[in-house]
Amino acid sequence: MRKQVAIIGGGPSGLLLAKLLTQSDIDCIVLEKHTKEHVLSRVRAGVLEEGSVQLLEKAGVSKRLKKEGFKHNGIFLSSKNASFRINFKNLVDKCVTVYGQTEATADLYDAVERDNIVVNSASKVMPENLIAKNPTVSFTHHNQHKKISCDFVIGCDGFHGVARQQIPKACSKVFERIYPFGWLGVLSETPPVSDELIYANHKNGFALASMRNESLSRYYIQTPIEDSTENWSDQRFWDELRNRLPNKAAEELVIGNSIEKSIAPLRSFVTEPMQYGNLFLVGDAAHIVPPTGAKGLNLAFSDVHYLHEAICGFYQNDTQLLNHYSARALKRIWGAIRFSWWMTTTLHKFPEQNAFDQKIQEAELDHLKCSKNAQLNFSENYVGLPLD
Ligand code: APR
Ligand code: PHB
Repeated sequence: MRKQVAIIGGGPSGLLLAKLLTQSDIDCIVLEKHTKEHVLSRVRAGVLEEGSVQLLEKAGVSKRLKKEGFKHNGIFLSSKNASFRINFKNLVDKCVTVYGQTEATADLYDAVERDNIVVNSASKVMPENLIAKNPTVSFTHHNQHKKISCDFVIGCDGFHGVARQQIPKACSKVFERIYPFGWLGVLSETPPVSDELIYANHKNGFALASMRNESLSRYYIQTPIEDSTENWSDQRFWDELRNRLPNKAAEELVIGNSIEKSIAPLRSFVTEPMQYGNLFLVGDAAHIVPPTGAKGLNLAFSDVHYLHEAICGFYQNDTQLLNHYSARALKRIWGAIRFSWWMTTTLHKFPEQNAFDQKIQEAELDHLKCSKNAQLNFSENYVGLPLD
């Protein structure tokens, strides 16, 4: 089988890239190891920057997003149980859209399936000959062993995928920080306590109030990295969330049974460069950010934007963008990694943290509350750094 581009991974980045390449009349295929149902069963955050919304519009999959997505002009931050609002729409004339990643992935999956270019349940996917002119990707599907010859292999296969592992260790450098805590997340069929997100610093630890729609709330509290959901009854969760939220939200919080409860670790991870021969890495295959800044999906989409432009350039006999894909993507990635690190270190309680450290965090948030310049800096990062 011969394709111009072979994409490993049918998550949001692989599906968006496939859609954009197909629209550019570039012949591609997506090899996804799971079923569509499995991919869409993942509960993931979705705070979309304007650039991400524009990419989904460009891909022709924004109809439901425009109907069901919630535009937010600001967020609340809270310190010592008192909140303040940052109106990033007023400050930088941009907003964010809350729309579940699962929904965005479902919209992309439906669109790409109509192009008939996704192979679900593809096993033993293995990219080979990556520095040759025509790399190959072998895989097994319906017990048949198959091989694709292509011009480019794109690793959209996430943090635990196969693509990054094919880059010789001597040809790459990893940068990583594992945070000493996790996020216990609860999904409940209750009305969100606030119309906009609330990120809370508290002496007990971080909390976040978010939502999926008017009757589906998403809440998080920081827990020790070794904690287990078995230690957290719904009541214990709601009591601790109330402790950490600003007073008004704590009073108005509507509680209910959790319909999903899970603990996720927090890490920052980047592998450089994001290309090796004719292999290119995109999204979680190349970088991970803590969810604090809601940057994971948006960085995956900006990688797709850069790589789509670069591959189109190649087929128009201009290899410059392709040669500079990694450097161009990493500039924006490190900007988002820095912001996510700042939000994580400012809002969370670290195990070795003392009273002085807590006061410094509160002073940082007080400065943000009182300084327009600080709010301008926060806003330009939260709504998404420029693509170019
Ligand atoms: N072969 C084929 N498919 C694979 C393989 C493999 N060896 N390994 C992983 N996959 C698939 C996974 O099943 C998944 O569907 O690749 C896809 C990777 O999707 P994501 O992990 O969602 O990564 P990405 O598309 O880059 O999206 C990044 O997802 O994890 C969140 O917070 C992250 O919001 C960010 C977004
Ligand atoms: C979520 O709604 O799950 C969410 C929102 C914002 C974040 C992280 C998660 O920063």
